[in-house]
Amino acid sequence: MVAAANKAKISYVQLLKEDLAIFRIVPENGIPDYKAGQFLTLGISVANEGYKTVRRAYSIASHPENREYYEFVLRWVRKPLPGRVTTQMFYASEGDEVTVGNPTGNALTINETLPDGRPDERRIVCIGGGTGIAPFVSFAKHLHTIGDKREVVVLHGASYQDELSYRTLFTDLETDSLDRGKDKWNFRYRGCVSRPQEWFNRSWNGPTGRVENFLKAKVKGEMSPLEQLVGEKITKENTSFYICGWQGTIDGVMETLSPMGFKTFHDQREDGSFEVKYESYG
Ligand SMILES: Cc1cc2nc3c(=O)[nH]c(=O)nc-3n(C[C@H](O)[C@H](O)[C@H](O)COP(=O)(O)OP(=O)(O)OC[C@H]3O[C@@H](n4cnc5c(N)ncnc54)[C@H](O)[C@@H]3O)c2cc1C
Ligand SMILES: NC(=O)c1ccc[n+]([C@@H]2O[C@H](COP(=O)([O-])OP(=O)(O)OC[C@H]3O[C@@H](n4cnc5c(N)ncnc54)[C@H](OP(=O)(O)O)[C@@H]3O)[C@@H](O)[C@H]2O)c1
Repeated sequence: MVAAANKAKISYVQLLKEDLAIFRIVPENGIPDYKAGQFLTLGISVANEGYKTVRRAYSIASHPENREYYEFVLRWVRKPLPGRVTTQMFYASEGDEVTVGNPTGNALTINETLPDGRPDERRIVCIGGGTGIAPFVSFAKHLHTIGDKREVVVLHGASYQDELSYRTLFTDLETDSLDRGKDKWNFRYRGCVSRPQEWFNRSWNGPTGRVENFLKAKVKGEMSPLEQLVGEKITKENTSFYICGWQGTIDGVMETLSPMGFKTFHDQREDGSFEVKYESYG
């Protein structure tokens, strides 16, 4: 029996491709307060397991100011065996019932203050691999909605260009920044594809390679693509990083940042300072 507080309905499904989709879910008893970057546990009853409810964690892509629905971007896991929850979700339709737990997790929440109590005004660089972009959709919408004045850069890496989910949203947010001026809303977005040689990416002429390459200078001593984008050298004083993706993506980013003296939240200095927060998935 599902607790009433957890009951929810799928209100919208947008298939981006056969194994990638955006879902909107409306809890029966409303949406509690939560923080951009958190995740929750989504449950669905699995037909071939006697309709038992199976639960998995998903990052919330919607922003906390949206009280209408939660949004998620899901990859249908099919190998080596079909995933239990994602298979059921990809067969579900609008109107179907699911369950939701309360939003939780602080690995990827936005840092607001420095250890000495001053506001954290560093540039926010978000690096998402694949569906790891979800928390940063929430970040961007939240920071835009509250009129945050910090500089925000979102970098998204995917194997194929149609997996750059939210490209339209991020491009619109960048256009708004260009229109209104950086003093009002300071936002940049870049996507890259890691399999540029494949037929499906034939029309892509943007950045290529894994997303961590944005931090690596093509020629030693020169500025990295990220530094060219923001127009200055990245230092631990001027930039904080948030990463979500495969462990290889986190490691690839830290390969550049560790020698520059950057510390993660998990490996923070004695005074509580750090520059990098991350959530990995494998
Ligand atoms: C904090 C957090 C946030 C997340 N956010 C997202 C998100 O935003 N979007 C998203 O798509 N995912 C997200 N995930 C991943 C998600 O929680 C699930 O792990 C994922 O969707 C797979 O669930 P599943 O039930 O479909 O697969 P499972 O049934 O759990 O299968 C998992 C893996 O095991 C394999 N497997 C299953 N059974 C066997 C077997 N008998 N032998 C060998 N292999 C087997 C499957 O093929 C698959 O590769 C997140 C995870 C965490 C921890
Ligand atoms: N917070 C979380 O824990 C969380 C959040 C979202 C998703 N997930 C789960 O993660 C799984 C896969 O996610 P996805 O399908 O979104 O990712 P994906 O499409 O497989 O990969 C996204 C990008 O990461 C690159 N990549 C793959 N393996 C890598 C590695 N070892 N090191 C560095 N880069 C790598 C890919 O490059 P190539 O093209 O070279 O492969 C691609 O550019 C799914 O099962 C999903 O459920 C977990």
